[in-house]
Amino acid sequence: MTAHELTLLAGTANPGLASSIARELGVPLGACAIERFPDGEVHACIDESVRGREVYVVQPTSPPVNDHLIELLIIADAARRASAAHITAIIPYFGYARADKRSGCREAITARMVADLMQHVGLDHVITLDLHTPQAEGFFRIPVDNLTAVPLLSGAVRTDVASDLVVIAPDAGRVKMATAYAQSLGAPLAVLHKRRESGTRTTVTHLVGDVRDRRCLIVDDIISTGGTIAESAAALLEAGARREVIVCATHGLLLDGAIERMRTAGVHAVFATDSVAPRGDGGADDGGALVHVVSTATLFATALQRIRADGSLRELREARGSGPGARGSAFGGTTIVDQNPAQRL
Ligand code: R5P
Repeated sequence: MTAHELTLLAGTANPGLASSIARELGVPLGACAIERFPDGEVHACIDESVRGREVYVVQPTSPPVNDHLIELLIIADAARRASAAHITAIIPYFGYARADKRSGCREAITARMVADLMQHVGLDHVITLDLHTPQAEGFFRIPVDNLTAVPLLSGAVRTDVASDLVVIAPDAGRVKMATAYAQSLGAPLAVLHKRRESGTRTTVTHLVGDVRDRRCLIVDDIISTGGTIAESAAALLEAGARREVIVCATHGLLLDGAIERMRTAGVHAVFATDSVAPRGDGGADDGGALVHVVSTATLFATALQRIRADGSLRELREARGSGPGARGSAFGGTTIVDQNPAQRL
């Protein structure tokens, strides 16, 4: 790709991460005014020329998912109509990624529909992080770079884990991710089988592996209601695991009640990335000492630099590569951006 001048724009979903990426790159954020009309419609106006420029839009489609998605589509349409040369969406959390198949009834494959919408408005490239199912990349005809936070998160917990650690996949879908953590941390693996009763309720039915008198690290891509983690922690404690259960999850949506649900179930610490903006709802429990946020700014900035230089993203896409004893990720150290020092277990 011919190198054009770069414009980095932020939607309203995670301006903090967008600013950190801009800082890493040493560029200012582009001027983009986004307003919401009284009827709920969104208006976006790029307040500087992007003609012939490479435009990157940072916007996780996190809750409120539909608002953030439509905002991304509107910014992309504005950039295309303003003659941007190339438009890339940096989507640290990809909403609707879990709606990737039909499970029997007459339902939509919404992840595919969202991919179609993004291409329709003129996106040329998508950069995302730990997609719920990596094969959802196949819903796009344009390039999708699905980066991984596993090296960052395993780097963040490495000093907190001991030789009795066991890595837990909370369901069959997370076995590959859990294997990568286990390899990175030099720990064995155990797998839970869960049955989803509803959007908010899961039940653990089986445990494969030995957790008795061991410390458990549950890994997942998303924490939404916290139900999966809470059920998993409770099942592990019932099976004789030690009480200090810790969690690594790429996307900490942490909907209302999630923190309390996990804490009550015996979770001691949660490490999540900043793919989703911190909860600003003034809720009774904002995660406080439980949640430690790991920055992905360097990861995205590095990806962007390599893309612009036609370089390889392979090591940013691969969960393996930081074996036992390795520190941080392949491209740099892990930065924990919360105020709370990581709790040592
Ligand atoms: C499901 O397959 C995902 O990997 C997560 O386990 C799930 O989305 C977490 O949701 P919740 O926190 O609501 O249980």
